[in-house]
Amino acid sequence: MAIPQYTLNDGTTLPAIGFGTYPLRGTPGVEAMADALAVGYRLLDSAFNYDNEGAVGEAVRRSGLQREEVRVTSKLPGRYHRHDAAVVAIEESVLRTGLDYIDLYLIHWPLPRRGLYVEAWQALIECRERGLVRSIGVSNFLPEHLDTIERETGVVPSVNQVELHPWLPQAELQAYHDAHGIRTEAWAPVGEDSAIRHEPVITAIAQEHGVTPTQVILRWDIQRGVLPLPKSWSPEHRRENIDVFGFELADDEVAAITALGRSQRLFAADPAIHEEF
Ligand SMILES: NC(=O)c1ccc[n+]([C@@H]2O[C@H](COP(=O)([O-])OP(=O)(O)OC[C@H]3O[C@@H](n4cnc5c(N)ncnc54)[C@H](OP(=O)(O)O)[C@@H]3O)[C@@H](O)[C@H]2O)c1
Repeated sequence: MAIPQYTLNDGTTLPAIGFGTYPLRGTPGVEAMADALAVGYRLLDSAFNYDNEGAVGEAVRRSGLQREEVRVTSKLPGRYHRHDAAVVAIEESVLRTGLDYIDLYLIHWPLPRRGLYVEAWQALIECRERGLVRSIGVSNFLPEHLDTIERETGVVPSVNQVELHPWLPQAELQAYHDAHGIRTEAWAPVGEDSAIRHEPVITAIAQEHGVTPTQVILRWDIQRGVLPLPKSWSPEHRRENIDVFGFELADDEVAAITALGRSQRLFAADPAIHEEF
């Protein structure tokens, strides 16, 4: 089944689900990503710090797909927020993929205590103007950080990629995004290896629809307009996770899953203070 597409606020498009690539690296990583493309994924979510941009580029070349058919995301590490360092890091990301351009480039974390994310954002804007990247966005940004870059540069991100799963539905943040034309992407969408997929509410809905709990969670994202990025080493899981366009949750089922929210971050990484470089 064809994957629906979102049009971003800059006119580019993204498929409604993508493939997470951390920590897929080296030859096994290329094989996993190439298989993901073979079974229908068209968006690979990478980052400078995943050390796998080379594997991403190789998987795209191996897929036999036209370059325009695939979307590749990468992200700027905290250590390169200074303007000139950011520009070089983005150039390096593109070189590592061996592709002519990267589709979507994000600031990985805001690191507000360092206070350099506006400089980094300016670098992303310039790299988009140069055609190195087609779309620009952010990750793990809170509304105050989004407000700041819009105020300082006048440019609104196309995407904010945040931790989002049934224990952290991010409904308020998504409402902010919707009001500003920002697409919400979900990292850790299926809750990593936590007990989320064993929540009775989710298993009961899965049984009702004859699908798996993980498929219910991904369908919940899609029906909320959230773009999930499930990662998987397992070929079976990869196939299962993309097979989520043949059933529909009722509104009260979507609401029941959202009601599982308990503001729980699985990794205790609060964007207001978290620093990684
Ligand atoms: N922007 C950020 O700061 C940030 C942070 C973290 C992650 N990310 C991105 O988001 C992606 C996804 O996040 P994530 O990898 O942390 O979490 P995730 O995709 O929620 O969870 C991956 C885990 O779930 C398992 N899994 C996947 N599908 C399954 C299924 N159908 N049934 C049972 N288990 C299943 C995987 O096992 P198998 O591998 O065995 O299938 C793996 O252990 C990353 O790969 C990365 O691209 C971004």
